[in-house]
Amino acid sequence: MQDILNDILQTNKKYANYGQVATYIPELKKARRDDLGICIIDKENKIYAVGDYEKKFTIQSISKSIVLAMALMDNEWEYVFSKVGMEPSGDPFNSIMKLETNDTKKPCNPMINAGAIVTTSLIKGDSPQEKEERMLEFFRRITKNNNIGINYDVYKSEKISGDRNRAMAYLLKNDGFINGNIEEVLDLYFKQCSIEVDALDLARIGLHLATYGIDVENGERIISENVCRMVKTFMVTCGMYDASGEFAIKVGIPAKSGVGGGIMASVPNKMGIGVYGPALDKKGNSIAGTKMLEDLGKKVQINIF
Ligand code: DON
Repeated sequence: MQDILNDILQTNKKYANYGQVATYIPELKKARRDDLGICIIDKENKIYAVGDYEKKFTIQSISKSIVLAMALMDNEWEYVFSKVGMEPSGDPFNSIMKLETNDTKKPCNPMINAGAIVTTSLIKGDSPQEKEERMLEFFRRITKNNNIGINYDVYKSEKISGDRNRAMAYLLKNDGFINGNIEEVLDLYFKQCSIEVDALDLARIGLHLATYGIDVENGERIISENVCRMVKTFMVTCGMYDASGEFAIKVGIPAKSGVGGGIMASVPNKMGIGVYGPALDKKGNSIAGTKMLEDLGKKVQINIF
């Protein structure tokens, strides 16, 4: 496996030249376009890693899968899905259009920004501080990394530049999909996106989903089997945004990307995969990272279909 990873890293480094780091959140401009790394943790807990797999970056939209799991554990599922849908949108991740044109006006799914802001609003806690602490604690447990925290420069940058998300959130409140204080919901959403991770952390999350919620080291369960199944299903249908169909055809595994350059992938009963490559394609997915996963799929049987 290690040789395969060394190989796919070298072969795909060139693709970073065809992508750009995200700029719409100003702080993300600071990423180095050429960075590339991948980490795999298999169900025997063996770690294989190469390149910039220990480089820190912000989790961004990958957080949507973990916060969805929390929302489903904090609330009745029927309630969650009365506020957010289950269908791919086919639109860019930050699109506002269907909030107006859909019959119900409900956000299509929890992997686009509008749906994710709704799931963030469903996290339980008596105060904003308690919600934040519960969220961070959940991320620490699922990554098995107690150092997980927020990158405050990125958080401030998101907050200052997040007017599109703000507009969506107020619209969602107007239409009855979010209750409570919108600025507090957005603050938690910007914080969850600004959590700092590396590819190793992402591989741990992917492995937890791959084992249907059982920690391979100590047998502990953090997420229920059914919630793991639902999260992975959303990852397959919506995790790579409006490129999810193409990714399912070419790679065929549950995966979730973020504009920080990460991809978290999960191969059921086999492995978790974390990728870092901040040069993005036009849809907001890591360009070299996606190519590496395609190549991995040609060399190792990971396709779930
Ligand atoms: O809200 C945003 O736009 C960002 N914090 C997250 C977007 C994102 O990662 C989309 N991913 N490809």
